[in-house]
Amino acid sequence: MVRSTAIAAAVAALALQADAAGLYPKSSKVLQVTTADYDRLIAKSNYTSIVEFYAPWCGHCKNLQPAYEKAAKSLEGIAKVAAVNCDDELNKPLCSKMGVQGFPTLKIVRPGKKAGKPTVEDYNGPREAKGIVEIVKDKVPNNVKRMTDAKLDEWLEENKDSAKAILFSEKGAISATLRTLAIDFAGLVPIAQIKKTESGAVDKYGITKFPALVLLKARSDEPLKYDGPMEKAGMVDFLSQVAAPNPDCPPAKAKKDDKKKEKKDAKKESKFSKASASHKSSEASSAATSAADETLEEANKPTESPDANIKDEDSPEPVVIPEAKPTIPVIAEASELQASCLNEKSKTCILAILPKDESAEAATTALASLASIHKKYDDLKSNLFPFIGVPASNPVAASLLKELSLGGDDQVHLVATNGKRSWYKKYSGSTYGPTEVESWVDAIRMGDGKKEKLPGSLLSVVEKEVPQEKAAEQEPIKIEVEEIVETPEPAPVEEPEPAVPEHGEL
Ligand SMILES: *[C@@H]1O[C@H](CO)[C@@H](O)[C@H](O)[C@H]1NC(C)=O
Repeated sequence: MVRSTAIAAAVAALALQADAAGLYPKSSKVLQVTTADYDRLIAKSNYTSIVEFYAPWCGHCKNLQPAYEKAAKSLEGIAKVAAVNCDDELNKPLCSKMGVQGFPTLKIVRPGKKAGKPTVEDYNGPREAKGIVEIVKDKVPNNVKRMTDAKLDEWLEENKDSAKAILFSEKGAISATLRTLAIDFAGLVPIAQIKKTESGAVDKYGITKFPALVLLKARSDEPLKYDGPMEKAGMVDFLSQVAAPNPDCPPAKAKKDDKKKEKKDAKKESKFSKASASHKSSEASSAATSAADETLEEANKPTESPDANIKDEDSPEPVVIPEAKPTIPVIAEASELQASCLNEKSKTCILAILPKDESAEAATTALASLASIHKKYDDLKSNLFPFIGVPASNPVAASLLKELSLGGDDQVHLVATNGKRSWYKKYSGSTYGPTEVESWVDAIRMGDGKKEKLPGSLLSVVEKEVPQEKAAEQEPIKIEVEEIVETPEPAPVEEPEPAVPEHGEL
C-alpha cells in the first residue's frame, strides 16, 4: 500500500526553491545561453560549440566550473564555450529537447551539412580544461587546403579573381586557429597551408621565417606579409583589409519594444566576437549600456534558498508555503517494497528507512530533501531512480537495519540499493539538508563512491518483469530538428596536433 507523507510543517519550512542564479558570473568567458537564443547563438552558428547543461545545485557542475572557465579562455576566438542553466524555468524546454538526463551534460554542437541543422554529439571526454580544449579544437571543421609545390599554380589559377591567404608552416597539422580563420573568411578568402619543405613556394614568396601568413590580393602575385603575433584577432584584422569576415551567427532580430534584450544579445555576441574581431561596432555600443543593465538585473536576483537546517522560529524571513508539497512514496508492505526495489532484477533505489517516531526532525528533513530533489528531476522530465520511504512498520525495515548494520530504529537512515548488481551505499552524513543529500545522490548517479555488497538474503527472486524496470529503461527524448551522433569515445583525430600553448600553435 502506498501512502503519501504529508509532513507539512517540515516541508514548508524547507520551501526549497530552485536557485535561479546560474553558476557563471556575468564577467565569465562562458557564454550563457537560454532557450530563446540557443538556436541563433549555437545551432545556427558557423562555429563549433561545447554546451554544458547544468543545474546550479549540482555538485559535479560546481566542480567542473573552474575547468570550464579555463577552457572558455583558451578557446576564445576558436570555439564557443557555452552553458545552459537547466534550473531556470525558461530553459527547461531546451534542456528537455536536448535529452538532458543528468547534470552536468556536455554536448559538442557544430555546423552540419545543412545550414541550421547542426551535428550534436555527447562530450564524454575528461572534465578538465586541457581535455575539453583539445577535443573541441579537434572538432573544428577544416576548410584549409594543404598545398604543395606541385598543386600551387593550379590553386592560384582557380582563385585568381579573389584574394587568398597562405600560411607557411614548419608543421603539417592545421591548427584550430587557422581552421577558424578559414571559417571566418569562408567564401571570401580561400586559405591554404604550405609546409616549409615545399621549397618552390617558399622561394617564390621569399619566406624566411616560420610560421608566416601572406595575403595575395585578387589578380596579384605580390605577397603582403603579416607581421603581428600569430593570434586569431590580429590575423582576422590582417585579412579584413580585403573582406569583412562572416558573422559568427545570424543577427538578433530584436523587437522594437525590447531594447534591453537587444543590448543583452549584442553583449553576449561580443564575448565571442571580441576574439574574432568581427562585431567591433556593436561591442562598443553595448559596453556603454551594459553597466546599467547589470545594476537592474542585480536588484531582481532571487535571494538564496533558506537553509534546511534553520528552524522556523530562527528564520528572520517569513516562510513561503509551496502550493503543492513534493512527497515521495512510502511503502509499508514488505512484498511491495521487494517488488519495487529489493529483488535480483531491481535497479538503483534510494530508501529512507524511517524511525518509529516519523515526526522526528531528521526524518522529516530527510524526506523533504529527497522529495525536493526528485521533484527537480521530474520537472526536467529527467529519469531519476525511485526514492522510497520505508516506515518502521514495514518488516523489511528491520532486516535492512540489521543486515546493512545501519543502526537503530530511533533515527532515519538513507541507503541506495541495487539488487541487480548487488550493491548498496550508505548515506554517512549526520544532517539531512537538501545540499548534503543532493551531493550523495549526485555521487550515486555518477557511480562515484564506495559500494558495499548487498546481502542476497534481502533480495527476493522474481520471475516477472517488475514495473520499475520499464521506467528505468525508458527511451531518451528524441530530438527532431538536429542530427545526433552518438560517440561514446572522442573520435580519433585526423592528424593529431601536439598540445602546445596557444601562441606557439601555428
Ligand atoms: C557562415 O558562413 C557562410 C559562408 O560559409 C556565410 O555566408 C555566413 O554569412 C556565415 N554566417 C552565418 C551566421 O551563417
